[in-house]
Amino acid sequence: MVNPKVSGHSKICYRPIRPSDIDILEHIHGRLFPIRYENAFFQDVVNGQDIVSWGAVDRSRPDGQSDELIGFVTARVVLAKESGIVDMLGYDSAKTDQTLVYVLTLGVVEAYRSHGIASSLIREVINYASSIPTCRAVYLHVISYNIAAINLYKKMSFKCVRRLQGFYLINGRHYDSFLFLYYVNGGRSPCSPLTVLSISNFRELLSAIVSYMRSGFKSVTARLCKNEGKKISRRAKCKESYTLMSATHNKRNGAVECTGYECV
Ligand SMILES: CC(C)(COP(=O)(O)OP(=O)(O)OC[C@H]1O[C@@H](n2cnc3c(N)ncnc32)[C@H](O)[C@@H]1OP(=O)(O)O)[C@@H](O)C(=O)NCCC(=O)NCCS
Repeated sequence: MVNPKVSGHSKICYRPIRPSDIDILEHIHGRLFPIRYENAFFQDVVNGQDIVSWGAVDRSRPDGQSDELIGFVTARVVLAKESGIVDMLGYDSAKTDQTLVYVLTLGVVEAYRSHGIASSLIREVINYASSIPTCRAVYLHVISYNIAAINLYKKMSFKCVRRLQGFYLINGRHYDSFLFLYYVNGGRSPCSPLTVLSISNFRELLSAIVSYMRSGFKSVTARLCKNEGKKISRRAKCKESYTLMSATHNKRNGAVECTGYECV
């Protein structure tokens, strides 16, 4: 691989990853991640075996390099009920065939960073997820010290919904991860105001309406104010348990072990 350079004439295009990309894909993963991925993973990516992927290439590079990957994202469709995060998805996700898209790896080679390439790759994933009628969210894990990635997901309106203690084991040391989620197709947090209203306050709302009809406008105003107070305190409670946690910044360690294909 010749070291690429971004220039004013760069023409970045996005395309599916193909079998001919396998060497460069493996090479870039080795450079960017502290985790080693097995050969089977790369085979699955390039053959589209249960994995969807997009590559970024710079068409303005000389012949022979104009189709070489300078960025990539890989993802997998999973059943919501098997994702382990069903409690983040609302009350009926465990029972149905609802799905999620899980981002496995994302990377852009150093010379092409800060040009919006990762944002475009993530947008491809979001568009893909939105095109699947059963899909309710895109989600991923990111290691707690990866400030660039954390900022990227926050900027793209992902919500940080959980901190998982010791999620990664790298060089014999545990690192926390953040779980980020982006709702699509009407998917929403079980603590969204709509859900809170529909589940917890439905009876109160109904009785307020009945009271309104029975006793006239004045007495109902007082009752609704009382209910609003309750609603706000419940919402505040839910919000508290899902707020964004702060991240500490440590130096990235060198390589090595991980059982899954998670994004770091
Ligand atoms: C994280 C990574 C994919 C970002 O790629 P990129 O193409 O440079 O990202 P973008 O240009 O789309 O940046 C979008 C936003 O991300 C954030 N961001 C990107 N790089 C950042 C950095 N070095 N420091 C802080 N924030 C950063 C910024 O909010 C940026 O918006 P801005 O340019 O308006 O400030 C890239 O740094 C990378 O490949 N890192 C190594 C692999 C990795 O960590 N992958 C993510 C695993 S979850």
